[in-house]
Amino acid sequence: MHRPARSVAAFRRLAPSLAAAAAAAVTLGLLPAIASRGAAAAEPSSAPGTTPAPTVLITGANRGIGLELARQYAAKGWTVIASARDPAGAAELRSLAAERRNVSVETLDVADSAQIAALAAKYAGRPIDVLLHNAGWLGEREKQSLDHLDYATFEQVLRVNTFAPLEISQAFMANVLASGQKKIVVITSGLSSQANTRRGGGLYFYRISKAGVNMAMRTLAAETRDRGIKVGILAPGMVETRLLRASGYPAKGISAQQSVEGVIRNIEALKQDAEIILWDGSRVPW
Ligand SMILES: NC(=O)c1ccc[n+]([C@@H]2O[C@H](COP(=O)([O-])OP(=O)(O)OC[C@H]3O[C@@H](n4cnc5c(N)ncnc54)[C@H](OP(=O)(O)O)[C@@H]3O)[C@@H](O)[C@H]2O)c1
Repeated sequence: MHRPARSVAAFRRLAPSLAAAAAAAVTLGLLPAIASRGAAAAEPSSAPGTTPAPTVLITGANRGIGLELARQYAAKGWTVIASARDPAGAAELRSLAAERRNVSVETLDVADSAQIAALAAKYAGRPIDVLLHNAGWLGEREKQSLDHLDYATFEQVLRVNTFAPLEISQAFMANVLASGQKKIVVITSGLSSQANTRRGGGLYFYRISKAGVNMAMRTLAAETRDRGIKVGILAPGMVETRLLRASGYPAKGISAQQSVEGVIRNIEALKQDAEIILWDGSRVPW
């Protein structure tokens, strides 16, 4: 059962302009930190005289593509802030963190503004090279067909897939600006493409939410380009995860490992044009 989202109106009240992000971070510093490990954010480790490893913050890192992103960035030696809404139930992520000192697990329900604020306060002053919005929710298929459009579900899908990446980008803007790589990446979907609707309908809320986050990220790219931020809108392909099975996709997808290898290559090669790029490097039409 998916947890209820906050209302659209509540989100609007909580979303000041990007220009206010620095001031907001100070305010948020008064909020209590939520951590699964210790009270303060662990500092990245690096030998004296060496450049610190870059840092990635991943949402929804407990399973599927997010867990694989955490694994592959950890194997590359990055400092990985792997967030999940229920770390206690995230056995695979916790065992990754137990094996690798460069992985910290944090609590973050992306639909919860207070948790976003608390995590941003905890990491205030820490550069984040890649802010990776991976958490996503399909919504139940039967609640988003023309026979039955459940608008409470629509709001929850929007909260997770569309509002959260913008709100989290806003909350962590100062961290990204302070980093060497300055990248903000959202995992979108090929289903966000208007050109792809020729293949069939259904999944109204998921498609709209992903098209919406694409526009949020395009707008963010336009507003932050001159400060050196690169925004990525990356589609992972059809990947064997719980989400793909829930979508009713009839064929077998590619592995999370294969998809994520491609996604990370695309993040490394990211330009400032904020186009939709598929895991294999090809362009997805708008
Ligand atoms: N698999 C595909 O073929 C495919 C294709 C296109 C795009 N995508 C996108 O890829 C991303 C990852 O999906 P996946 O395929 O790996 O699916 P998945 O296995 O279902 O994983 C979804 C992840 O999102 C997390 N999540 C959902 N709601 C959340 C919330 N409110 N707060 C924090 N985390 C939340 C889930 O955490 P819980 O375990 O707590 O629910 C889980 O970690 C999504 O954005 C999805 O839209 C996937």
